Amino acid sequence: MLDIAPKTFQRIVDIARKRWGIHLTERKTALVANRLTSLLRKTGRFASIEDYVEHLERDANEEDMLVFFDSLSTNVTSFFRDPQHFHFLERELWTPVLRGTIPCANRRVRLWSCACSVGCEPYSLAIQALELVPDIANWDVRILATDLSNKALAAARRGVYAESTVAQMDPALREKYFERVRGDDGLTMYRVRDAVRKLVTIRQLNLMDEWPFAGPFDVVFVRNVMIYFDRETRERLVRRLAGYLRPNGVLAVGGAETLSGLDVPLRPAAASVYLK
Ligand SMILES: C[S@@+](CC[C@H](N)C(=O)[O-])C[C@H]1O[C@@H](n2cnc3c(N)ncnc32)[C@H](O)[C@@H]1O
Repeated sequence: MLDIAPKTFQRIVDIARKRWGIHLTERKTALVANRLTSLLRKTGRFASIEDYVEHLERDANEEDMLVFFDSLSTNVTSFFRDPQHFHFLERELWTPVLRGTIPCANRRVRLWSCACSVGCEPYSLAIQALELVPDIANWDVRILATDLSNKALAAARRGVYAESTVAQMDPALREKYFERVRGDDGLTMYRVRDAVRKLVTIRQLNLMDEWPFAGPFDVVFVRNVMIYFDRETRERLVRRLAGYLRPNGVLAVGGAETLSGLDVPLRPAAASVYLK
């Protein structure tokens, strides 16, 4: 494994914090060294981490920077991850909306998966909407899916998943919403059907930048991304997200995450679920 001098690590910390809000502590030195060692071996362009950091600071283009970003973050996700969030949405959003006990002007429902990774999360939201809204063609339901990672977004746009990725799903849903296709290596893959894709708009977005769209959203999923951010960044992000929610809108964080200790205009509604 290549070495990182403390000064070089500090330069990496500064880039990650300024650009993406990612908070790296000294404890991550070995992890970063490990990831960068693999990256540098693959590219074969840099003799040392020091050289690579020099490049990042001086002449890296946006694409190079995002390759670096990918080496720092993880895209781990799954379909219907944290099922309690989907149960909550069925109970507290879809059922009352369909019964008319929550007013829903123009039958417009907006959901945002704001660190969507390879797409399992927004496609799960779309599948749930298709399951629960019988006449969905007469509704204006849209799911916005954003992430910063080029690699993750390309996979989300492809919408083709390995058998192991869909294995945990309810088989009835898998049959209904995926078609089997043959992968390059001859393996069976699962391609999300067009009816699901049609509900989802995929866009690149750095959560630390301006957000070039307007709310309000009925639901925001911001799950398993704030683990990268320090307290101040998390608080700022959640306050911004709250500004994009309609009154009583739902914000879900990762199953192991909490907003406790953050000064945000949301109230807890269930484990890792908050309401505006
Ligand atoms: C572990 S995945 C979470 C995926 C999904 N939300 C879930 O819970 O299953 C974290 C995602 O956050 C994205 N991410 C990290 N920092 C980000 C930032 N500043 N802006 C946008 N996305 C970011 C990463 O690219 C990665 O895809």
